[in-house]
Amino acid sequence: MYDSPPPSAAPSSPLGEAELRRLETEYCSFGDTVHYLPDPKFFTGCEGSFMYDADGRSFLDLQMWYSAVNFGYRNPRLNAVAQRQLDTLPQVASQYLHREKVELAAAIAQDAQAKFGRKGRVHFNVGGAQAVDDSLKLVRNASGGKSLMFAFEGGYHGRTLGASAITSSYRYRRRYGHFGDRAQFIEFPYHFRGPKGMSKEEYGEHCVAKFARLFETEYNGVLDTKTGQAEYAAFYVEPIQGTGGYVVPPKNFFVELKKVLDRYGILLVVDEIQMGFFRTGKLWSIEHFGVQPDVLVFGKALTNGLNPLSGLWAREELINPEVFPPGSTHSTFNSNPMGTSVGLEVMRMLAEGDYERQVAEKGAYFLEGLRDLQKRWPQIGDVDGLGLALRAEICEADGWTPNKALLDRMAEEGMKGDLEVDGKTLGLILDVGGYYKNVITFAPSLHISREEIDLALKLLDQLLRRCSQG
Ligand SMILES: Cc1ncc(COP(=O)(O)O)c(C=O)c1O
Repeated sequence: MYDSPPPSAAPSSPLGEAELRRLETEYCSFGDTVHYLPDPKFFTGCEGSFMYDADGRSFLDLQMWYSAVNFGYRNPRLNAVAQRQLDTLPQVASQYLHREKVELAAAIAQDAQAKFGRKGRVHFNVGGAQAVDDSLKLVRNASGGKSLMFAFEGGYHGRTLGASAITSSYRYRRRYGHFGDRAQFIEFPYHFRGPKGMSKEEYGEHCVAKFARLFETEYNGVLDTKTGQAEYAAFYVEPIQGTGGYVVPPKNFFVELKKVLDRYGILLVVDEIQMGFFRTGKLWSIEHFGVQPDVLVFGKALTNGLNPLSGLWAREELINPEVFPPGSTHSTFNSNPMGTSVGLEVMRMLAEGDYERQVAEKGAYFLEGLRDLQKRWPQIGDVDGLGLALRAEICEADGWTPNKALLDRMAEEGMKGDLEVDGKTLGLILDVGGYYKNVITFAPSLHISREEIDLALKLLDQLLRRCSQG
């Protein structure tokens, strides 16, 4: 299974790796990437839960392209659909129609109607941040042009100018000035690092109460108490924080938050770009929390990382053609047939399979393994998760002080590809996230086997042994 690359590994370049690195240094913008490690690896093949390099080394991937490849690399069913589309109608301008676009929009909207009890429509774009930008237009328009938003501390919504204005890190805005209004960032119930002595539920209630306090008098700066009008159009939420470190809020949190929003006519926009498509064991992670969004944004795993496609669902009142007419947003590739055909097959596959049960079972098994590991390694301060969105917070031996340096070493060692398990040599691909960049954010393939989960746990154990001495 994990000892040899698949025969279809990409042909190696006539240029050697050293020359490719030199060309990258000279000709590639570094502005469009994230260099976590000094010499990022060149990969040449992938399959299932594994990536392969030119030397034939295998790497178990526990982040799956930031949760874009939920259904495994080179998924045969999805790749076959992409191939079929390539052979029939791979290109069509978006002013014309193709059936896959219409069927995919209908599948998502009908599912949302069944779950949220509201009719709505689906609007496509290409990348996640672009869909977030589209949602900003939608809520600004629906609120009569209000440009202020609430969002969470630790929230991440992308790096276009619009999306980075509602993303909490100033780092993404610092060099570029403001092209729009920056969101007001509200505390998220990140319980592990919350106030001592509060249960998870109490901390959620505390955060909502702190937010509700903003509306108590006009002097708190968000409400005209004479008219009952809030200055804010919408609240942007990731139900489980993604880049923020796979932080799972308490069950009652969004119900309580939504009550405040409804009181003041503030829309709820749910960003499912990272947690959607069964990452947490449901199509949308917000389904765990018993609230209905006004707008829901999606991307990434919709096409399993094949042709990019993103989009949003919004309830009819916000998006019908009377209020959001043709041309409100547009991108040449926005409902490209390669993407919509794969997206439609993803929706079919999800409807046919028992993903809810399987992801819950695999997630529980993986989480139990992580808890076991935590017993042996005090450096694992916290483990938690929902479905197959799992976290392990790497700390000093006190189990509390964030230890980014240790996790960086682990990520780097994993990429060497020389860990030994059961007589096999392989590597481990980890993603690093969290407020202190000390959280392993696990997003394995939803098709990962128990055997592969066991392997992951052994590899983590070995990485901790190798790196915790330094
Ligand atoms: C929650 C969330 N929103 C938005 C984005 C931006 O999506 P993209 O990188 O496709 O622009 C991401 C990407 O990681 C994300 O995790």
